[in-house]
Amino acid sequence: MKHKAPFIAAILIAALFISACSSGKTDRNLQDSVLDAIATRTSIRAYSDKPVDKKTVSTLLKAGMAAPTAMNTRPWVFYVVRDKAMMEEISCTLPYTKMAKDAAVLIVPCGDRERFLTGEGMTYWVQDVSAATENILLAAHAMGLGAVWTGVYPIRERITDVSRILDIAPEHVPLCVIPIGYPAENPEPKDKWEPERIFYR
Ligand SMILES: Cc1cc2nc3c(=O)[nH]c(=O)nc-3n(C[C@H](O)[C@H](O)[C@H](O)COP(=O)(O)O)c2cc1C
Repeated sequence: MKHKAPFIAAILIAALFISACSSGKTDRNLQDSVLDAIATRTSIRAYSDKPVDKKTVSTLLKAGMAAPTAMNTRPWVFYVVRDKAMMEEISCTLPYTKMAKDAAVLIVPCGDRERFLTGEGMTYWVQDVSAATENILLAAHAMGLGAVWTGVYPIRERITDVSRILDIAPEHVPLCVIPIGYPAENPEPKDKWEPERIFYR
């Protein structure tokens, strides 16, 4: 028994080493997939007829709601739009959201006035809901979907139009409209790397 102790210790150390190496490998996979999704995402404005199911939309919304928010207020609600007449009207009314009528679904991230901070932090909600929007775009891309952020807030006329068309509650402020569908175009991601725009101190 005495002689077996070093042997058992060696096996335990080897097991710990292997497990440490394999968790390092997992982190590397995570790093690669996250950075790859960020680098290859691009706005998609043409969609096929393939439907996007409820579970997929839930996954996108979960990604949205995982975003960071100031003081963890999560000052958002999300409208999911599949009504074809509403999608057509959004498409005809918003000047730069023509693609909405061809999408399988629209997600409309909104600020919720009831959860806005007060005082100087009042407009943090815009950053919070924007972070959720970017999460949705990245998740859509990672899942083989195409999507584009189309701007609503702070253009007053667009806020009024979107709120009317989608029957959005007065306490909700639409930030943007995200048309989503399976891609019918394959544009190259833009190269936006501009090192001269960085200042090191
Ligand atoms: C605040 C905001 C508003 C935007 N509004 C529109 C829009 O109304 N219509 C549109 O087609 N794209 C819109 N875009 C998408 C941009 O045009 C697009 O992100 C930009 O050209 C960079 O291209 P990329 O997304 O392929 O990297 C908007 C993006 C942001 C962040």
